[in-house]
Amino acid sequence: MRIDVISIFPEYLEPLKLSLVGKAIERGQVELHLHDLREHAIDIHRSVDDSPYGGGPGMVMKADVWGDAIDAVIAAGPHEMVAPLLVVPTPTGDVLTQQNAQELSEYPWLIFCPARYEGMDARVVEFYRGSSDVAGVLELSIGDYVLAGGEAAVLVMVEAAVRLLSGVLGNEASPVDDSFAAGADGLLAAPVYTRPPVWRGMSIPEILVSGDHAKIATWRKTQGLQLTEQRRPDLIARTAPADASRAHAAAADLPD
Ligand code: 6GU
Repeated sequence: MRIDVISIFPEYLEPLKLSLVGKAIERGQVELHLHDLREHAIDIHRSVDDSPYGGGPGMVMKADVWGDAIDAVIAAGPHEMVAPLLVVPTPTGDVLTQQNAQELSEYPWLIFCPARYEGMDARVVEFYRGSSDVAGVLELSIGDYVLAGGEAAVLVMVEAAVRLLSGVLGNEASPVDDSFAAGADGLLAAPVYTRPPVWRGMSIPEILVSGDHAKIATWRKTQGLQLTEQRRPDLIARTAPADASRAHAAAADLPD
C-alpha cells in the first residue's frame, strides 16, 4: 500500500515511522511519502491560507495551493498504479468506523490531505469528486470534537487501516476479535488478564484457567455483550436482532 500525506507540518506525521506502521514500512508493505504543502504556495509570502469569503473568524486554506499539491503528488506517483483515493480529514466528514478503516486498508494508494485553520476551500473536494485522476474522495472525521488540524486524525486513520493489512499484526486471528470488528459482531471486546494470577488481592476470572476453550469463548462473548450494553448501547441498536436480545439478557445478569 502506498500512502502520501500533504501537510504544512509534514514532521507531524513522522511518528508513523515508529512501531507497527514503521515495521510495515521497513518490510516494504507500506510506502510512506510525506509532502510539504508550502512547496506549492504560489505567492512571494508562500501563503497557504486567506480570509474567508462572506467574512467571519479564521482563515481558509487556498484551493489553488491544494490543487497544485494534489496534482503534483498524483503526477509523481507510480503510473502503473490505479488512481488514488483522496482522504480529506474534517470534523464535517463521516465518522471513522472499523468498517471504513477496513475499506481504507483495501485501497492500494491513499493520499491524505489534512487541513489547518477553518478547513480548505470547499471547491477542492468538489473538483476531485468529479475527476478521473482519483478513485474517489472520502471526507472523514474521527469523532465529535474539534482538533486544531487534520494531522492527528491522519495518524489515527493510517494506524487503523495499516494494522488490518495481512501479516501486519503478529497473530493473523487477532483483528477478527477486536472491539467493533465484524468477527465480534461489531461489539466491544471482553476484558483481558495476564500473570500474576493475584495482583493487589485481585484474582483473575476462574474460567480463564479452566482449560475449557468453548466455555471461555462463551464467557468472552457474554462479557463483550454486557460491556456493550452498559457503555455503548448505540452499537447494539446497529447490530443483528439476535445479538441485541442476547445482549439484553446478558446485561440483565449484571449487578446494578
Ligand atoms: Cl478529521 N479534523 C479536525 N480538524 N477536527 C476533527 C477531525 C478532523 N475529526 C474530529 N475532529
